[in-house]
Amino acid sequence: MSSPRFSEPIYVTRPLLPPLDAVQARLAEVWTARWLTNDGAQTVALTEAIAGHLGAPHVSLFNNGTIALLAAVRALGLTGEVITTPFTFPATPHAVSWSGATPVFADIDPVTMTLDPVAVEALVTPRTTGILAVHVYGIPCDVRGLQTVADRHGLKVIYDAAHAFGTTIDGVGIGTFGDASMFSFHATKLFHTAEGGALACRDPETRALVDQLKNFGILNQEEVGPVGINGKMNELQAALGLAVLDCVPEELRKRQAIIARYRERLAGVSGVTLMPEPSGVRSSGQYFVIRIDAQAFGRSRDEVHEAFKRENVMTRKYFFPLCTDYACYRDLPSAAPGRLPVAGRVVQEVLCLPLYGTLALDDVDAICDLLTGFRR
Ligand SMILES: Cc1ncc(COP(=O)(O)O)c(C=O)c1O
Repeated sequence: MSSPRFSEPIYVTRPLLPPLDAVQARLAEVWTARWLTNDGAQTVALTEAIAGHLGAPHVSLFNNGTIALLAAVRALGLTGEVITTPFTFPATPHAVSWSGATPVFADIDPVTMTLDPVAVEALVTPRTTGILAVHVYGIPCDVRGLQTVADRHGLKVIYDAAHAFGTTIDGVGIGTFGDASMFSFHATKLFHTAEGGALACRDPETRALVDQLKNFGILNQEEVGPVGINGKMNELQAALGLAVLDCVPEELRKRQAIIARYRERLAGVSGVTLMPEPSGVRSSGQYFVIRIDAQAFGRSRDEVHEAFKRENVMTRKYFFPLCTDYACYRDLPSAAPGRLPVAGRVVQEVLCLPLYGTLALDDVDAICDLLTGFRR
């Protein structure tokens, strides 16, 4: 057997690590303040910085994105049925189920891979209270289409914007659409706090309720209002986040150069579709995803994934399988495969290619050469 193209594994992503001395300087401030959690100076500063970065004024920081999503579902009073996408990370439907509501899965758009507003509207019943849509890979949902459906039926809209930190539509921050948007700051995200997340809320009232909910529902020293949870970001996470945020513009520039190289090298390869670049959209640079049409390419996505692995390139089949294939959801009526034909096709085709700032352009070229070489 010949040796792999890369002697060391090339992972799909690598965490963005700021210079250690920048992190240490922030940590020194935490030590001086002797304040480790509950809205310390680092959390206050990061909240302001994130709100400015996202162009979304009403931001609340969390210990992770999943708890933020739970708080959004609770704050907006979603009960009964919530329409969502099967093509996502399990945290999305879990946030609905953990809140005691039922996720109802609707099909996705064949190009953007995000919830199809027509499919959503067809599933609205008297029990429906909201829509939980995902800007998958940072590609914006049809925000106007979904809002139209929501307005017509009196529904709330939550966006899972875990992948969409920094995405804008015609210059408008993605976190300003819908009633609330969740951002994940997990280590695999371009901007991260190791673990963490945020909710961008439509108005200050929702943000105030969310702030209560993430702190056990505590109103003051003697009163608890709503049934809350512990979702607070701590000062160590926020200090790391402030140091990471300083590195985000440079990381994004490097990722954009890598994405441009992938696009240049892979454009026109028969059987390969590149993730869409909708006009007016600034991308988050979170993922670079291709789709493999097995017939036209001569090899299936799974074969390409395995072939890359043999060359030490660790691509990922994000998001495979569909959430509707998991044991906890597969028996729901809306999970029947025949009802989700587009998602069923897309999930067999998608492949995430390596993307992180320190990935050399020569390595990107080598990955593209490998891919074109796999074609039959
Ligand atoms: C689409 C999506 N939603 C939710 C989450 C969960 O976010 P967190 O890991 O911050 O809880 C993730 C993954 O991290 C995700 O990819």
